[in-house]
Amino acid sequence: MTILVTGARGNIGGRLVSLLAEGGHRVRGSARDAATLRLPEGVETAELDLTDPHGAERALRDVETMFLYPTRGDLGPLLKIAHGTGVRYVVLLSSPAAYDAGEYDQPIGLVHREAERAVEESGLPYTVLYPSWLASNTRRDWAEQIRSLGRVGVAHPEAQVNPIHLDDVAEVAAHLLTDDRHRGRMQVLTGPRSMRLRDVVTVLGDVLGRSITLDELTEEQAIEQRAPWMPEAILRTLLAVTALGVGVLAPVTNNVERITGHPAREFAEWARTHRADFE
Ligand SMILES: NC(=O)c1ccc[n+]([C@@H]2O[C@H](COP(=O)([O-])OP(=O)(O)OC[C@H]3O[C@@H](n4cnc5c(N)ncnc54)[C@H](OP(=O)(O)O)[C@@H]3O)[C@@H](O)[C@H]2O)c1
Repeated sequence: MTILVTGARGNIGGRLVSLLAEGGHRVRGSARDAATLRLPEGVETAELDLTDPHGAERALRDVETMFLYPTRGDLGPLLKIAHGTGVRYVVLLSSPAAYDAGEYDQPIGLVHREAERAVEESGLPYTVLYPSWLASNTRRDWAEQIRSLGRVGVAHPEAQVNPIHLDDVAEVAAHLLTDDRHRGRMQVLTGPRSMRLRDVVTVLGDVLGRSITLDELTEEQAIEQRAPWMPEAILRTLLAVTALGVGVLAPVTNNVERITGHPAREFAEWARTHRADFE
């Protein structure tokens, strides 16, 4: 029986494919353009658009369990095909945006809730993963400024987050896909500690061996300076949610340790592995 990892090019999906392959499992990784997908030796590839699943039967052949990205659009037709081809369990990546105050009724929350609804209505057994603030957000939002200026603009630097290492998310998914012990309806996954955004910048500087100047931005400055790919309405929501975390510990769970058997990895470990992205 095969495990299908959709979004096999993604940060989490790619790591998950490698972990499953290293564990000796039969894995198939899918992407919308499979021709450009580079996966470890022995891993099958398949072409699959999660919201336009014509030809999905091929990607789903012999698949017993699958990892699903919360793509914008209707996942229902794909899940119906999956039900018919004999898939028995789904792990859906979601986000606390689906339930957090300030986000659940905004665009990012709605996309994730829609994906959850499709999985629930499919009738397939499933677990929804709610990873906390991904450590890779620092690369997405700050790496360019740190590389070119040695400084970074941050709104609400006193806000607290609990950065999670992407390997921990992938490891939890690998356990769930291959072992039924922790298959609850949901798993809230976090890093090991609550940190102020200011402290996250300090850790990055320590790992890089230089101090990074943090420029505190007002929300309006953050909006003016946003990256071209970031829509203003989305950033306004994210800033409002960040503001709610000022002076408040971010919740920390022990689910990574319960499922994988080891404590959640520190943000510094992720930063050490990815330091080249900031240099
Ligand atoms: N940022 C946070 O703090 C946070 C917190 C909790 C949860 N999350 C969730 O985690 C996600 C990010 O994870 P990541 O970094 O691993 O993502 P990523 O590297 O951006 O990868 C996203 C994957 O989704 C696939 N995809 C997108 N639309 C698709 C479609 N229509 N059909 C098939 N595949 C499709 C892409 O596949 P292709 O190769 O086909 O392009 C890509 O592999 C966020 O989008 C959010 O849902 C984020």
